[in-house]
Amino acid sequence: MKDLLRNTTSLSEGIEQILNLQAKIESDASNKYLAMAAWLDRNGYANTAEYLYKQAEEEREHFLKVFKYITDMGGIAITPAVAEVQQEFASFREVFEIALQNEIAVTKAVNKVIAKCRAENDYATEDFMMWYVAEQREEEKNARRALEFFELINENEAAGKFALDVQIAKIGE
Ligand SMILES: [Fe+2]
Repeated sequence: MKDLLRNTTSLSEGIEQILNLQAKIESDASNKYLAMAAWLDRNGYANTAEYLYKQAEEEREHFLKVFKYITDMGGIAITPAVAEVQQEFASFREVFEIALQNEIAVTKAVNKVIAKCRAENDYATEDFMMWYVAEQREEEKNARRALEFFELINENEAAGKFALDVQIAKIGE
């Protein structure tokens, strides 16, 4: 019966492929945040490290959400290979500069999926992906907010380091 259902999926091959790519992007995003959290942890930014450990968990959920959608629609979900991620960062600020760049890249990837859905009249997948549109709006806003703090507080002073660690971690609350 399961094999029969698999033959009757309404997912086109192209949509299945781009969804698997999106799943991989979300999975990579999780690992990128994990590496950032570990860097923050070993450099004394314990509060922000906690925030990014949570972000890593969230990205893992984003990954699973796409992964399960592919299966629910009768497609074949492919477990992504674990990619190498950046482990070292020049500064606290650089972590968030890269985090914002990554989030913008994810937003663009989400937009590509939706463009493909529209080209192929796949309204179910388009509807599913709208959740990611809202999520990305929030993720980008948070990363930009974190960077704003570096304009307000001097990272190169001990008191500044502590204040930044406390303030940026609060974004995630
Ligand atoms: Fe995500």
